[in-house]
Amino acid sequence: MKVLHEGKVKRVLSDPNSPNHIILEFTDIVTAGDGEKKETIGGKGKLACETSDILFTFLESKGIKTHFDKRFDENQLRCKKVKIFPVEVVCRNVAAGSFCRRYDIERGEIFSPPIVEFFLKDDKLHDPLITRNAAVVMGLVTHEELAFMENVTRSVNYYLCQLFKQVDLSLIDFKLEFGRTDEGQILVADEISGDTMRLWTLTGESIDKDLFREASGDLIEAYATLVEHLKKATPKEIPIKKERIRVIVMPKQGLKNPPGEVTRKALTRLGFESVNDVRVGKVYDIELSHPITSEILEHLRAMNLKLLSNPVAEEAKVGLLVWE
Ligand code: TMP
Ligand code: ASP
Repeated sequence: MKVLHEGKVKRVLSDPNSPNHIILEFTDIVTAGDGEKKETIGGKGKLACETSDILFTFLESKGIKTHFDKRFDENQLRCKKVKIFPVEVVCRNVAAGSFCRRYDIERGEIFSPPIVEFFLKDDKLHDPLITRNAAVVMGLVTHEELAFMENVTRSVNYYLCQLFKQVDLSLIDFKLEFGRTDEGQILVADEISGDTMRLWTLTGESIDKDLFREASGDLIEAYATLVEHLKKATPKEIPIKKERIRVIVMPKQGLKNPPGEVTRKALTRLGFESVNDVRVGKVYDIELSHPITSEILEHLRAMNLKLLSNPVAEEAKVGLLVWE
């Protein structure tokens, strides 16, 4: 198998049987602080691979689209081939790590709703925090892609929190990466393991890579315990999270909009003399009992043109709402 990409702790190999798949290989290397601290710990790759296998399988069972196809070997996953977006998405339920250092706040503060942040994927720059605006203007992602990633990240957070709660663990924070297939489908990619999450036991002990970052415990023992816990969970009992999509339909620019004109006149009569123009449209809030996927958005975009709007006189925008 040809090596397509060599990361800090994983390798991407070509899949001999399919040009649309890759083999993601987990090594025993553990790094922290952008590779400043680096060790090889026997068995880590297999445990991180197994954790990712369990969690991707779980998320897929709830309708979240990921790059995961199947376990290929002890330390290998077969995944769909995607082009990874150069932004990482971090979701925080509880203050820890770089968030505490950045804002000088107490570790353990609970965030409600959870905080979602974007980071530029660039080791040389130490993966700096990036604003949405900068990421879009720099051409890394579009606003729609960011909204989609945030939405999926919040759904992933809901499902993972529920799963870990069943086995008495709290999900403190985690990082996701997203990729796009040649067909344009956006999928959760990379790995989800103790290397990319913080998890605390009920007594506040870490069961994740912080044990290595802070040299405070046995990583392998913790990762093995995590896998054991996950095997005891009962994913079927976790209810589906409702999602909402907002479709905004506006009269096309340049076309007459009589309701807007009536409102403009009324506002002027009431003394709002600076009102120049008013245009009146429609809003549809659509609730779904399935996580939002690229296909659902595409389907809605195609459908709403026929169903919710008149394409001759109106233009429709499909937006994602984050309603905690
Ligand atoms: P942070 O507090 O260091 O920003 O990390 C937030 C979460 O993201 C934590 O669960 C660890 C994970 N993470 C990665 O998976 N890779 C990274 O490069 C970084 C910086 C964090
Ligand atoms: N993921 C980064 C590294 O592997 C930073 C970290 O997780 O602490 O070096």
